[in-house]
Amino acid sequence: MNRIELFNDHFQNFKVYQIPKAQLIIADPPYNLGVNAYASNPAWYKDGDNKNGESELAGKEFFDTDKNFKPAEFMHFCSQMLVKEPRESGKAPCMIIFCAFEQLHYYIELGDRYGFKHYIPLVFRKKFSAQVLKANMKIVGNCEYGLLLYREKLPKFNNDGQMIFNCFDWPIDNSTPKVHPTQKPVPLLERLVGIFTDNNDVVIDPCAGSGSTLLAAANLHRRAYGFEIKKDFYKAAKERVLRFIQPQLFQ
Ligand SMILES: C[S@@+](CC[C@H](N)C(=O)[O-])C[C@H]1O[C@@H](n2cnc3c(N)ncnc32)[C@H](O)[C@@H]1O
Repeated sequence: MNRIELFNDHFQNFKVYQIPKAQLIIADPPYNLGVNAYASNPAWYKDGDNKNGESELAGKEFFDTDKNFKPAEFMHFCSQMLVKEPRESGKAPCMIIFCAFEQLHYYIELGDRYGFKHYIPLVFRKKFSAQVLKANMKIVGNCEYGLLLYREKLPKFNNDGQMIFNCFDWPIDNSTPKVHPTQKPVPLLERLVGIFTDNNDVVIDPCAGSGSTLLAAANLHRRAYGFEIKKDFYKAAKERVLRFIQPQLFQ
């Protein structure tokens, strides 16, 4: 049986739950975009067309927890909740953080302060762009960014003898129900979980949103723990995660 748990709480309260330390932390913290969350996105306008006037998403945040995120507390959590570096090589833990391009240097420096001395930048290439407004006047973004952070030793690395580039394709995920505005594709998360963990290793997502990381980890028979403060996201995620663990309840 997979061990998967999602808590409707701030990750800062993690000590109460006594969860095991992780081989891998995957986090997609709020980007602090504030009321510009849908800027350059056609969703700003009704039916994606500015001739129709602004939609209900114009000037809105993705979610109201976006602006209160505390990156230092998050990095403290990661430094506490990743397993210690083992003596052997090839088994060290690591963390992956999805972030805006502008946040990369900030997180590299913050990571360094919390003992994550090394990093590898990650790029996720989409076959589409959400920034199609004025697309005929400027270059539009089709990439998401992230960082792999680790302490001293190179992290566990399941590569089947193949080179792994730091630019990953961003798969379209049509099979997972969409319950969160910034939901990550489960196949991408499975790819990352598969590279940096083995069966039964622990994966933690402190900002779980839709529970996509937990679902990816469960699909690969890892143990997984997550935190999500918004009740609605938590409920939607819980149903998805529960549906995976106890499908008979939903037949
Ligand atoms: C960018 S979203 C994550 C989306 C997720 N990766 C997915 O695929 O669905 C960040 C989430 O972190 C949650 N959050 C923000 N601060 C938090 C905190 N202190 N503890 C737990 N969750 C938090 C937000 O409510 C939001 O749902």
